[in-house]
Amino acid sequence: MSTYETIDFFSDPSLVADPYPYFDDLRDVAPVLPLPHLGVVAITGYDEAVEVYRDPDTFSSCNSVVGPYATFPVPLEGDDVGDVIDQYRDKLPMFEHMVTMDPPQHTRERAVLMKLITPKRLKENEDFIWRAADQQLDEFIAEGKCEFIRAYTQPFAMLVVADLLGVPESDHEMFRQGFGLSASPGMMGAGDQHGDNLNALSWLDDTFIRYVEERRREPRDDYLTHMALATYPDGTLPDVESVVRTATFLFAAGQETTARLLAAALKYLAENPAVQDELRQHKERVPEFIEETLRVESPVKTDFRLARRTTTIGGVEIKAGMPVMLLNGAANRDPRQFECPAKFDIDRAGIRTHIAFGRGTHSCPGGPLARVEGRISVERILDRMRDIRLSDEHHGPAGARRFDYEPTWILRGLSKLHLEFTPVG
Ligand code: HEM
Repeated sequence: MSTYETIDFFSDPSLVADPYPYFDDLRDVAPVLPLPHLGVVAITGYDEAVEVYRDPDTFSSCNSVVGPYATFPVPLEGDDVGDVIDQYRDKLPMFEHMVTMDPPQHTRERAVLMKLITPKRLKENEDFIWRAADQQLDEFIAEGKCEFIRAYTQPFAMLVVADLLGVPESDHEMFRQGFGLSASPGMMGAGDQHGDNLNALSWLDDTFIRYVEERRREPRDDYLTHMALATYPDGTLPDVESVVRTATFLFAAGQETTARLLAAALKYLAENPAVQDELRQHKERVPEFIEETLRVESPVKTDFRLARRTTTIGGVEIKAGMPVMLLNGAANRDPRQFECPAKFDIDRAGIRTHIAFGRGTHSCPGGPLARVEGRISVERILDRMRDIRLSDEHHGPAGARRFDYEPTWILRGLSKLHLEFTPVG
């Protein structure tokens, strides 16, 4: 019997460490496959996933984050449930964030965001990223070892988003404390102090409300003012709450994803010393290395859509109201699209065609930023560390390594990555 009939993707812990054999099993049965759990249809085929991503008229994003756990107060019946989705979408979790919106509301909110993440702004941000990479490395490099996610990726990815939004550097330590990522022992704010408090990030909302209100009252020559005054395409000014929501959502969307990408990249480097040397000598290959990491270890494991009407994908009928699970990490290993898909190969043709950043109207606006973060981090790390290796103490000896991955069906990523290395200079 195929594993998909017995394994529950949403709760089976055996899929956390290595979901890829399961993804292959699904695809072998059918690239579009109704699962026995929660009424979900799983898409593991590349072409089929792209087709869904590119059709927001048929597939609503209202459940993009909560997936099969999106429940409506009335049953979804019949061959067209579009009206029910539109009427009750604000009853679903995360409805106020752009990632769950459909056109035309999504088009409006996304237009404001794209005024903030312009190529010019990304270029300015890149200057900060070079500095942030070095500053972060300075904090631990002399020790010759680190838990890389906590020491580097999390504070780095958070500060890059803060800088993108124009948060003044004088406030950066406050952000580190707020997110529990402060380097200074004994200071307030460590994440554990917040515990599971759902309002743990209320300080973030309060801070951005203050930034926006102050700049609307008294515009300054700074980027936060640009953000505070950015208008919708029709020229109207969003209310403060909408601006703050867009800004703070970038931390949610851009922090853990990028942090896990960087961790996957360093794990691969630590396991492959020859690749460290190759990339040190050929820095121009680092972007391809990052692309291949995104393909092989796609940080966003699942993305969801809800069928507004009954339709067909890959010859399989999808009933109106069915949750459609787009498995990016599976589609990115579809052998019909990528030859020898499990092989990490920075020379592969079409290396940028992966869908780790999704596709279509919701495709990740932070993709260019994540790529730059990856490139700069790997370059600076290779410059400043030699002989990067996994810690036997924490991950076990070569041949019997152990890794812990985040126990979630949404993200794919290491929980911890203990590295050892020889500092340079
Ligand atoms: C490796 C890093 C990242 C990965 C793998 C990633 C992946 C994705 C994916 C797959 C989507 C599409 C969601 C959907 O179609 O339902 C998305 C959307 C989004 N991402 Fe990223 N992301 C990354 C980094 C970032 C960064 C650095 C930012 C911003 C600073 C960002 C901001 C967003 C936003 C705002 C959306 C929603 C866009 C919309 O709904 O129109 N992401 N991301």
